[in-house]
Amino acid sequence: MVWESGCVVIVMLTPLSENGVKQCHHYWPDEGSDIYHIYEVNLVSEHIWCEDFLVRSFYLKNLQTNETRTVTQFHFLSWMDRGIPSSARTLLDFPSQICVCCFECC
Ligand SMILES: *[C@@H]1O[C@H](CO)[C@@H](O)[C@H](O)[C@H]1NC(C)=O
Repeated sequence: MVWESGCVVIVMLTPLSENGVKQCHHYWPDEGSDIYHIYEVNLVSEHIWCEDFLVRSFYLKNLQTNETRTVTQFHFLSWMDRGIPSSARTLLDFPSQICVCCFECC
């Protein structure tokens, strides 16, 4: 889906799991690369920007066409399922130039 819609930025608003309940599919490798269907995903970097979100950079390769792309993921960590972030400030601190792509967790 990320590939088909040409996403360059993914904004993820859920933690992977919360109170032991799975919230979202872990669709990237923790290190190195993994193959998902016909796509190879390489984790290039992972930086914690502040306590509320981290940024990962991926290098994607379509194994059928050999086309490659770079995707950046902003993983917002403090948005809890049944709550709201501790302060609205953290959301406002998100870089304003993000073109939010269509990504919805399961
Ligand atoms: C993709 O790269 C591989 C390895 O270099 C090559 O064998 C294959 O023909 C390439 N496929 C396309 C569609 O270019």
